[in-house]
Amino acid sequence: MRGLALADPALILASAVKLTRGGTPDDPEAHARKLGQIIDLYARTGIQVYSPGYMGRQFSGPLPVSAVIELVSAVLTQPASFYEAGQLPNVAERIMGEELNRFLGFPADRFAMVTTSGGSLANLTAMLAARNRRYPDAWRDGLAGLASRPAIAVGEDVHYSVTRAAGILGIGDGQLVRLPLDAERRIDPERAREALDAAAARGLDVFCMVASAGSTSTGAIDPFDALADIAAERGLWLHVDGAHAASLLVSDRLRPRLRGIERVDSLAWDAHKTMFVPAVCTMLFYRDAAAAVGAFQQEASYVFEKTADIYTAFDAADKNFECTKRPMIMSLWVPWALYGRAPFAEKLEQLCDMTETARTILARAPDFVPLHRPQSNILCFRYLPEQMLDDAALGRLQGEIRTRVRARGRFFISKVDLDGQAALRVVFMNHRITADHFHQLLDEIREVAGAIMVERAETEKAPA
Ligand SMILES: Cc1ncc(COP(=O)(O)O)c(C=O)c1O
Repeated sequence: MRGLALADPALILASAVKLTRGGTPDDPEAHARKLGQIIDLYARTGIQVYSPGYMGRQFSGPLPVSAVIELVSAVLTQPASFYEAGQLPNVAERIMGEELNRFLGFPADRFAMVTTSGGSLANLTAMLAARNRRYPDAWRDGLAGLASRPAIAVGEDVHYSVTRAAGILGIGDGQLVRLPLDAERRIDPERAREALDAAAARGLDVFCMVASAGSTSTGAIDPFDALADIAAERGLWLHVDGAHAASLLVSDRLRPRLRGIERVDSLAWDAHKTMFVPAVCTMLFYRDAAAAVGAFQQEASYVFEKTADIYTAFDAADKNFECTKRPMIMSLWVPWALYGRAPFAEKLEQLCDMTETARTILARAPDFVPLHRPQSNILCFRYLPEQMLDDAALGRLQGEIRTRVRARGRFFISKVDLDGQAALRVVFMNHRITADHFHQLLDEIREVAGAIMVERAETEKAPA
């Protein structure tokens, strides 16, 4: 079992520099040998997504057929912003939009979907569309002349790509209105109303609210119905960052967790996380196609035709930032076309069930505490040593545990700060992980924590 083979960068650098030297065009045997060495080095280092010890990040080994079509895409080189260059990818994008919207529930005759290179770019793009809807002249005139102070409301646990987007959009991350969370780390609608009132009283013009379907830290899913009510009352654009857990929509059993999502304005959805395809493959859905083309408004005669025709009707470029864009939808469309939604839904259900099982195991263990009820496949918890520690020392202990577990190399878990205090975090992305593996992880944590506590006691005893 291997969690993460974290090597000293100097060692990898030395190996890679050695491999870099001596390249020559005419020695096929040397090429084969070196290629083998490079692949070997690549596979041995970095995250080990196929090992059950890997529980630390939001990536999975991909569906094999996705990897095959990625190779085909690399060979064919058909970028996907314009129908002319990538005919099948643009058609497949239309089809996958319609397929997945059956579960999302946006109005079938009005919605739009476009792929973007990652969830961060999808969030930025949706927030740009929201900004341009509220301030239609901003694209041309910028924000400097505005009478009001534009602001964006976000949940406390929002991903950093959203706060970063506020900076990029000229809103300023100082103009973010933080919406308080409930005990399960979802946006609390009543307290959100109060925060929005307070922001308005401070002269902020909140035009967009960003919620999460699967927050990065705990996998929490915000209450979209209640938030859509607030957005409707106040004329806000409601964007959902569903990079992590929008995929739950494809499972009949898990879909109710995202109740109300059909009422939001836009949704970012990473297929390279919980749809198990190679990175990157992100979809951005808009309720209303007209809003989608509001994000970008420039002209470029060499690509954008002034009069639409049957070909340009399939172009994605008016809706996405990229000019050259990977035909990423192929890695999702192909397995979907071959197998339908069942493998996606089944794997997601299994991962969410495993997360529930892990929580039960933690709740029964006297020396661990789960920190929330799982809403997707992410779970945060703390190790509690026998000896009482204050909050700061307990937080430091979690950080040290994580570092030592990683150094041992059998398991890879992550660490996250919740309300300023460190916690351990597991993400179940590998369907081969069982309860037994999780018990082994807890034993490993007990061992390293025991060693840390002994070392601490010895340091305290040692004469100054
Ligand atoms: C909730 C959430 N939003 C956005 C992102 C960013 O997505 P990407 O890495 O595809 O840019 C992540 C990545 O982990 C995420 O967890």
